[in-house]
Amino acid sequence: MSLILGIESSCDETAASVVLDGCKVLSNAVASQIAKHAAHGGVVPELAAREHLTALEPVLQEALSVADVTMKDIDAVAVTQGPGLMPALLVGLNFAKGLALGNRKPLIGVNHFLAHIYAAFLESGNNVLTDPGAYPLLALVVSGGHTSLLLIDKDGNARQLGCTIDDAAGEALDKASKLLGLGYPGGPIIQRTAEGGDIRKFNFPRPLTGAAGKPLAPENLYNFSFSGIKTALLYHVRNTPEMDRTPEWLRDTAASYQEAVVDVLVRKTLSAAKAFGVRSIVVSGGVACNSALRERFTECVPKHIGLHLTERKFCTDNAAMVAGCGYHYFKKELFAGADMDSFARLPQITKVPFL
Ligand code: KG4
Ligand code: ZN
Repeated sequence: MSLILGIESSCDETAASVVLDGCKVLSNAVASQIAKHAAHGGVVPELAAREHLTALEPVLQEALSVADVTMKDIDAVAVTQGPGLMPALLVGLNFAKGLALGNRKPLIGVNHFLAHIYAAFLESGNNVLTDPGAYPLLALVVSGGHTSLLLIDKDGNARQLGCTIDDAAGEALDKASKLLGLGYPGGPIIQRTAEGGDIRKFNFPRPLTGAAGKPLAPENLYNFSFSGIKTALLYHVRNTPEMDRTPEWLRDTAASYQEAVVDVLVRKTLSAAKAFGVRSIVVSGGVACNSALRERFTECVPKHIGLHLTERKFCTDNAAMVAGCGYHYFKKELFAGADMDSFARLPQITKVPFL
């Protein structure tokens, strides 16, 4: 039995969690800074770092106390190493280093992007991980920082099929909400505003899907692009006289915009799933909370493919996914030294640590 403590600080959530044997989440403490950043319309990295500094200790104490353990019971400290906002990452990394050194525990650096995928295998999803029939597995990571498709084999070899060439899907929703004057973070706000709206009222583009009749370049088959949808929204707003921007217009605009994002994500994922004969699809990251996206995947994924939508509470940034993923580094004794550094950008992924 191994107890891993996870620490997460890559963006605007300060989180700590204790996970048993890579799947049983004993605690999942998250302190959100949303209210602090909302005034600025987006995350301010230096502000995030300062907030992490004060939030880490209370969040750690909450995680330990809810799990009913002390640092003595912990087998290793796993921390998000990157990718993410450098000032924010560094605060969590140094906090975790101090904890590990001070308590003589091994230190583990976890890739945040892979931790998002691992989130689907926490608790109820854990049996998928060990089922050889679940592979090849296709993971769609959709968050504020990523929109990416990763193909994973049962031996853990992995290949990124594509990613966004401009904005991430979450970013497209956040920017749309800001443009419509609705606030931050945009994903949940757009979802709420879109409720009951007509998804076909306005036609937003579906970039890199071939929908516009333009043949798709082979290198873009599984890439995404969301900046065009955002620009289309800008023109849509500009071309609508203020007096016509009624609550109904707003609802239909949000619904049609969200539909364009959902349509692109589902279409591209399904086309990759077909091309690579995948047996399972995993959807994770903050945008995977989105009800319209979850419904569409549930409707459209063929029956012979297992669909694993990450539990909502593990979609947005949390430390349970870091501790859970960290458990597999622990089993393989992939420990970091005190000189471990953070990294801001996603390195090329060729292998996942949890297989
Ligand atoms: O995974 P996450 O917490 O942080 C990153 O690693 O980026 O994802 C945050 C993103 C934000 O863009 C937020 O607007 C989006 O996830 N998000 C949603 C929903 N909840 C959060 N997007 C659509 N619908 C939601 N319900
Ligand atoms: Zn994230």
